[in-house]
Amino acid sequence: MTYLDHAATSFPKPVAVVEAVRDYLLHRSANPGRSGHSLSAQAARVVFETRVALAELLGAGDPRQIIFLPNATYGINLALNGYLRDGDHVVVSSLEHNSVMRPLRHLRQLRRLKVTTVLSDDEGVLDPQRFADAMRAETRLVVVNHASNVVGTVAPLTEIREAIGEVPLLVDAAQTAGAVPIDVAGDRIDMLAFAGHKSLLGPQGVGGLYVRPGLDVRPLVFGGTGSGSESDEQPSTLPDFYESGTPNGPGIAGLGAGVRYVQQRGIGEIRQHEQALFTRLRNRLSDIPGVTLSGPADPAKNLPVVSLGMARVQPSELAHVLDRRFGVLTRAGLHCAPEAHRSLGTFPHGSVRLSAGCATSLEEIDRAAEAVAEIAAEVSR
Ligand code: ALA
Repeated sequence: MTYLDHAATSFPKPVAVVEAVRDYLLHRSANPGRSGHSLSAQAARVVFETRVALAELLGAGDPRQIIFLPNATYGINLALNGYLRDGDHVVVSSLEHNSVMRPLRHLRQLRRLKVTTVLSDDEGVLDPQRFADAMRAETRLVVVNHASNVVGTVAPLTEIREAIGEVPLLVDAAQTAGAVPIDVAGDRIDMLAFAGHKSLLGPQGVGGLYVRPGLDVRPLVFGGTGSGSESDEQPSTLPDFYESGTPNGPGIAGLGAGVRYVQQRGIGEIRQHEQALFTRLRNRLSDIPGVTLSGPADPAKNLPVVSLGMARVQPSELAHVLDRRFGVLTRAGLHCAPEAHRSLGTFPHGSVRLSAGCATSLEEIDRAAEAVAEIAAEVSR
């Protein structure tokens, strides 16, 4: 099997992640921070250590600003629902995932939001000047996908931050946390949503949101936190303010091990490896007659993600043949990002996306490229 669907979820996970989940379930799985006994304290310690590791990786000074939620989508929903008010103007890029577009659509009706979409070019590259041009006096939030899940282009965050002045910035780092260096303090990022199960290498069912100290964001969910139980008001302390209900302890334990794996291997080394994978993948695929690639060729601006189309073959059919005949696992269609496909000119059929991760080898890239070449040759006969 050649697994090239890391943009959907990374697989396989490092052994240390599996071990951490197992250790938690076997030895520590009391309710973190609820019961006060020694096992509950051990579980709470695991959650706290993951928070500390993530804060370090993302450049967040205070670990309490890292909020654990089921996934990046919940993080984005908390950010948009909690921060935006009636009549606000929001600027988004056309590369956003439905995790941004759908809650914004809902809030447009509910809170009469005004939304301006900044178009990427037809390679999925964002121009900071277009963000500057989209700003209005009443703009209260800018939302940027740190990297497109469709073509893997990494947004020029520092330049976008310069272009938008002091207006708060929400970054969707679902694809980049663990794969690209992130510095929320240095880049003055106000909120950043992360997925635990992609490049952070944790299990599915855990992700979250970084919220900058002092930003006025209301909770999405209210309830028990194991703190201030005498009051029927949500406690104002972090992270309890946003984290009601029993957390995903085993998932957070696994995520902690994933973050430590990234830290030990080094994000610079991971980035270098993934750039080599991207270069090989793109070069091999671009040599195949009948195959059209979306996105730029520069590895410095991309994750190891390539979207392609093949003449006379629907993306879903191509992905099916890659899977069943060659054991190459990809994702076909619109990848929950129809606006991105509109920008790339691949709407409504979408593309076949091959996405590598830090566990991918150059041999796997070659196997996948050979499979695509064989199918293209058969189709052209
Ligand atoms: N958002 C994930 C993807 O791009 C699931 O496949």
